[in-house]
Amino acid sequence: MKKTVIVSSPGKLIIGGEHAVVYGRRALVTSIGIRLYMQLAVDENTDKQTEKHLLNFTLHDTNQRYSIDLYESSDTQTIEVQAVIHVYNQFKSFLSESGVFNIEVRSEIPIGAGLGSSAAFSVCLVGCFHLLCHGKLCLEDINELAYRVECLFHGTPSGVDNTISTFGQSLLYSRASKKHLNFRLSNLAIIDTGIPKSTKRMVGLVRSFVESNPEEGEKILNDIATCVDAMVEHPDELDELFQRNQQLLKHLGVSTVEIDQIVEILLKNSISTKITGAGGGGCLIALTSTFTKEQILE
Ligand code: MEV
Repeated sequence: MKKTVIVSSPGKLIIGGEHAVVYGRRALVTSIGIRLYMQLAVDENTDKQTEKHLLNFTLHDTNQRYSIDLYESSDTQTIEVQAVIHVYNQFKSFLSESGVFNIEVRSEIPIGAGLGSSAAFSVCLVGCFHLLCHGKLCLEDINELAYRVECLFHGTPSGVDNTISTFGQSLLYSRASKKHLNFRLSNLAIIDTGIPKSTKRMVGLVRSFVESNPEEGEKILNDIATCVDAMVEHPDELDELFQRNQQLLKHLGVSTVEIDQIVEILLKNSISTKITGAGGGGCLIALTSTFTKEQILE
């Protein structure tokens, strides 16, 4: 019997609190109107003679195609394939013992730019198997397993990315709690530095800084948390709060020469800009106030 499910999940912007959120502080995060789409089609085979457990997996945006036996060891596979095998193993007791799985992925979210492409991938992957096996989407369960998939990609993430990709809207998130907020920004530009970033590497870099400078590290993390609370309570002060959060991120070591230059050029033109996500490249967000798109581009 053939069954097909399609799931999509949004990208995200961290407005404030990235990195500090790894250490239990709060982050302000919002979903954005670009999505990753995943289709899972399974052709279940009931004939024991021709039993197979085949996975055809296509990532259209990066032109990656895989055809693998799901019962083979996953250690030598790419991280995306390992993620698929990991999730398949969690659900296989609900699936027919034999069949061919076809997974296709298309993403509007740029990959490795800090806009949540890997979290959207993890959430869609779990969501597809969940829908296929249970006929509905239980968001809390999906989020929990998507976090474990994110750990394959990033080591010890805070869970903010998979949580916003699962629930959407805007959230004030910490490892201990999540609160939905009615937080919307209409005057925001996303600036892609074009420099690929690695979340795992940047989180590791911050960990080294905090471990070798415990007092200074704690102070910066607490100042970032204060900044995030102020963003929620005084959205009219975002301009100044963006600048403060960016300075604190720079202190943590996740800015680069190129990012500093972009921030400085825009600030000279009265536009406050900060890193969004892990830093080291990826994307920045800028409060554009009354500037037009053409003025910003100039
Ligand atoms: C990445 O989008 C956000 C970081 O704070 C890492 C994390 O929270 O896991 C840099």
